[in-house]
Amino acid sequence: MIGSIIFRRAINLSLLISLVLCLTVVLTGQGRSDPNVLPHTEVLRSSAAKHGVRIITATDPAYFKDSRYAAILGAEFSGLEPENAMKFGPVHPRPNTDPHPYDFSVCDQLISFAQQHNMGVRGHTLVWHNQNPDWLTHGDFTPKQLRAILRDHITTVLKHFGTNIYAYDVVNEAFDDDGKMHSTLWYDKPGIGLARQGTKYIEQALRWAHAASPSAKLFYNDYNNETIGPKSDAIYAMARDFKQRGVPLSGVGLQMHVALDLDDPAKLNSLSADIKRVGDLGLEVDITELDIRVKSNDTASLVAQAKLYGEIVSVCIQQPSCKLIQTWGLTDKYSWVPGFFSGYGWALLWDDKYQKKPSYYAMLKALQ
Ligand code: XIL
Repeated sequence: MIGSIIFRRAINLSLLISLVLCLTVVLTGQGRSDPNVLPHTEVLRSSAAKHGVRIITATDPAYFKDSRYAAILGAEFSGLEPENAMKFGPVHPRPNTDPHPYDFSVCDQLISFAQQHNMGVRGHTLVWHNQNPDWLTHGDFTPKQLRAILRDHITTVLKHFGTNIYAYDVVNEAFDDDGKMHSTLWYDKPGIGLARQGTKYIEQALRWAHAASPSAKLFYNDYNNETIGPKSDAIYAMARDFKQRGVPLSGVGLQMHVALDLDDPAKLNSLSADIKRVGDLGLEVDITELDIRVKSNDTASLVAQAKLYGEIVSVCIQQPSCKLIQTWGLTDKYSWVPGFFSGYGWALLWDDKYQKKPSYYAMLKALQ
């Protein structure tokens, strides 16, 4: 009798525990009912892996407290990249005369998220003319001083991360659209001592990076270089020259912040041809900052966007040198597009309520 009461109590208790667990799962959306965290459904990262391609996204730890964001990031992507945290200003906010010139705290949070979710980390970016700190841009440094600052910056950053970061955009946006060198602090204003010597300063940055982290893949990264034209021609010429002379360049990054006009067979063929010619040099080509901006989130725009996402993925997986597709964020909620391209938005794979958009499914389908 007493035994049966205890038995019934135990059953009731276990029923109660099950009920509470079920409710928690339903109410928090953290359980198996949420497709974003289902380990056994097809997700971007596993689908892309079948093609030897990594699919990653740009991110910031500020978003991790948003549990839906963190769940999608950890489940769908096999890598991440700091959207801003590793740029010169955020990572090296104070001059070297300060006892604490560097701040790696935000990047280190990204690395720990990546490690917990079995993701690779790509670094972005070491040499760029934007998002530099005031102490650097207003410091009136001589080329000799700038050279020492940049060398120290590259060396310190790469040594800090060691093998936790497998690839870097070493130099970002060094060319103008006409293929000439962009005039910048690092090139000729006043530059690091290699002013008006073309790609010499890029070569120097790559050599410093390679010395500091010999196993890291090192990229040159740019925008408007995805189809064949003066800018991609200049980058190709540099890549060929570097490859011939043994300069440690692993590949070229195509940012691809694009709009629907890219959905043109001639342009997509040109994208394919551009990836192929760089690949034929023995270099990797990464799609590093993909987003497709549209002017409305009506069905027609989202369907057209989805078609182009699918086509870009198809071009990449058909080219053995294309090893990575990174979207510049995952949700429209945090995309840089509306703030930068006036009148545009809705550029990513999840909407601002974390619903998967047609573009998500088109990408997944192209990866099948
Ligand atoms: C953008 C970030 O997304 C924004 O948050 C920031 O305000 C400006 O920079 N090319 C690049 C990226 O290489 O680093 C830029 O990222 C977008 C253009």
